[in-house]
Amino acid sequence: MALTDARPLLFSPLTLRDITFPNRVTVAPMCQYSATDGFANDWHLVHLGGLAKGGFGAVMTEAAAVLPEGRITHGDIGLWSDAHAQALKPSIDFIRASGALAGIQLAHAGRKASMQRPWFGNGPLGRADVDRGDLPWEINGASAMPVDDGWLMPKEMDKDDIARLVQAFADAARRADTLGCDFIEIHGAHGYLLQSFLSPLSNHRTDAYGGDLSGRMRLALEITEAVRTAWPASKPLFFRISSVDGFKGGWEMSDSLTFATELKALGVDVIDCSSGGNQGRTKVSQGRVLQPGYQLDYAAEIRAKAGIATQGVGMILDGPQAEAALQDGRADLIAIGRQALFDPFWVHHQAYEMGVTDYGSWPEQYGWWLDRRERSIQALKSG
Ligand SMILES: Cc1cc2nc3c(=O)[nH]c(=O)nc-3n(C[C@H](O)[C@H](O)[C@H](O)COP(=O)(O)O)c2cc1C
Repeated sequence: MALTDARPLLFSPLTLRDITFPNRVTVAPMCQYSATDGFANDWHLVHLGGLAKGGFGAVMTEAAAVLPEGRITHGDIGLWSDAHAQALKPSIDFIRASGALAGIQLAHAGRKASMQRPWFGNGPLGRADVDRGDLPWEINGASAMPVDDGWLMPKEMDKDDIARLVQAFADAARRADTLGCDFIEIHGAHGYLLQSFLSPLSNHRTDAYGGDLSGRMRLALEITEAVRTAWPASKPLFFRISSVDGFKGGWEMSDSLTFATELKALGVDVIDCSSGGNQGRTKVSQGRVLQPGYQLDYAAEIRAKAGIATQGVGMILDGPQAEAALQDGRADLIAIGRQALFDPFWVHHQAYEMGVTDYGSWPEQYGWWLDRRERSIQALKSG
């Protein structure tokens, strides 16, 4: 079957503002912990470029720190200077030359900054990390509360820190535009800085940035407004949320619905619906049962009740599952994380499994040969 015969929604274009996504599958932001001093390198080019080659309609970079102290680990990329943007240029250019859209996630890790790379323990930096040259740095956050016992104590951000942060997000958005990015995402999930302001579990402030829901949302909304102003009106803006904390007394779906409505009013186009991550790893989350598509219910509810496009993410494993989520109106875009690491050609392979057996959407360097390979296989089969 050719794409034009009965094109699954998954492989159909979607236009947001002036930007057309060639299909509805995006690469979820995934830190590679492989940068040096915030600078992207050949690993990022080959990793992101490979995914663009693999048919993803949009490739989003990992979380890029808007300030050096906002990196999760020493290996995170940054976008706090023009030189950092320049280091990302080969990756962004390659993604776009491959026919995919390029996106970048703008982030600040807050109290979860200065951590070990996952393969060294995924906890606070320790002696072995220091011996390796990965020294801890001073961190800041919503309140002077560490992630967990034994983690660094953040400094509670004051008015000047907040003003510098808002400016840093806006500057990073401007750099992303200059770099040629087609869309950006503000990272407001997983217990990093913005979510730690949003959640009552991590925000114990008594000033205008704490207290009730409107106080706790204030910083994220100010940043969104500044980013939307700095980012062209023709290009889409995503916002990733943790739809729920997954802990009693924490951020709930009702908060996400209010928040999504406010973000929409400020010009956010897509809510990327993740969840969790705001508590230490020794605490067990309640109510989030890990199963295929476990976060799609959040995307569906926000899409229906807040009237905004959503991106579904989380254990979306194959094309038919993704297609069903789109057909059922649960999400507008599907983000693929670990499956894309398992199979960087996930989109082409799933399309093939779903009956799209021509190679027109593969890179031309491959497609011509694969077409002939297909014919050879058919000839073999028919004896
Ligand atoms: C290696 C790795 C790095 C990640 N880094 C980020 C990140 O930079 N920003 C983010 O919002 N989520 C990050 N995540 C979460 C993913 O974007 C995604 O939400 C999560 O993996 C669930 O999707 P999946 O089941 O398809 O992997 C990361 C996940 C992985 C596996």
